[in-house]
Amino acid sequence: MSSSKAPTLVTLGLAGGQGKTTVALMVGRILSRCGIPVLFVDADPQSSLSTFLGVKPSDDRPTLLEVLTKPAKRVPLYSAIHPVPQDENLFVIPANDELEEANHSLAASPMSISMLRNRLYQVDETVVATDQVANNFGLIIVDPPPERSHLALTALGSGNYWVIPSEANIKGVQSLVRTKTLVESCQPHVQHGKFIGVIPFRARWVGLNPTTTTRESIEVMTEVVGAELMLPHLLDSDIYKRAINEQRLPRDLGNSELEYPLLALIERIRPALGRYSDMIPHFEKEVVLL
Ligand SMILES: Nc1ncnc2c1ncn2[C@@H]1O[C@H](COP(=O)(O)OP(=O)(O)O)[C@@H](O)[C@H]1O
Ligand SMILES: [Mg+2]
Repeated sequence: MSSSKAPTLVTLGLAGGQGKTTVALMVGRILSRCGIPVLFVDADPQSSLSTFLGVKPSDDRPTLLEVLTKPAKRVPLYSAIHPVPQDENLFVIPANDELEEANHSLAASPMSISMLRNRLYQVDETVVATDQVANNFGLIIVDPPPERSHLALTALGSGNYWVIPSEANIKGVQSLVRTKTLVESCQPHVQHGKFIGVIPFRARWVGLNPTTTTRESIEVMTEVVGAELMLPHLLDSDIYKRAINEQRLPRDLGNSELEYPLLALIERIRPALGRYSDMIPHFEKEVVLL
């Protein structure tokens, strides 16, 4: 891939409520604040990401369903890209519940794992370089559904970078183990993909200490993936819920320190952002890992 093409980040997790959509959304918003154009792809029929972005697809515009099920000649990629209201750097290929139907056509195709990637990078299309969608963004962020569906597989197959947010409890540990197994089984077919980290999600602290559940689950996660793949934890906080509802960032609500795990994740992909990498400020903070 040429360095001017936006790489793709995928938030993975084989359970609901693990933070996939939250991490996808907030990473995109942070990069947007740096002046970097971001294309979101909502690959979940529950369409939380489209909703959080305030984008309701209209009936006359294609969504991800048409992108995945119709040929590029009939549904060009750009026709499915919706602007995000009130944020000139953010765009989304949205979803609605009809996206579920894409699972049938993906199931019928031997190429399903590379289907989304081929569409996003316009493989086999004759489009001049400057018009190619991936050349006009700094990062593409794909938000997959929580179950092991064909949609989840094609989302995984689209990624250059995989991050696994996992709730800091037993359910999160189980989700991480299953998701890591899936990533390992797909890796031979997705050579361009790299697993870059785990973000423990909704970590709970009382006073100066993590709760026992938080501490123990993060310890097990560290055993499962190794210390170098552990990113700082994202704290359980109503500020995040408010930021999502108000289409803002924790920093706008006076809690920029809550963004730290996302900045650490962005740091891991910075070198791949080409001409955009210098637009992200360097941040200094002591890494507080459990
Ligand atoms: N830091 C946080 N603390 C508490 N709740 C949060 C936090 N961040 C997000 N949430 C809430 O957690 C829920 C699940 O997160 P989400 O990102 O949608 O998970 P997934 O996409 O994996 O299903 C969301 O409804 C969101 O409002
Ligand atoms: Mg989600």
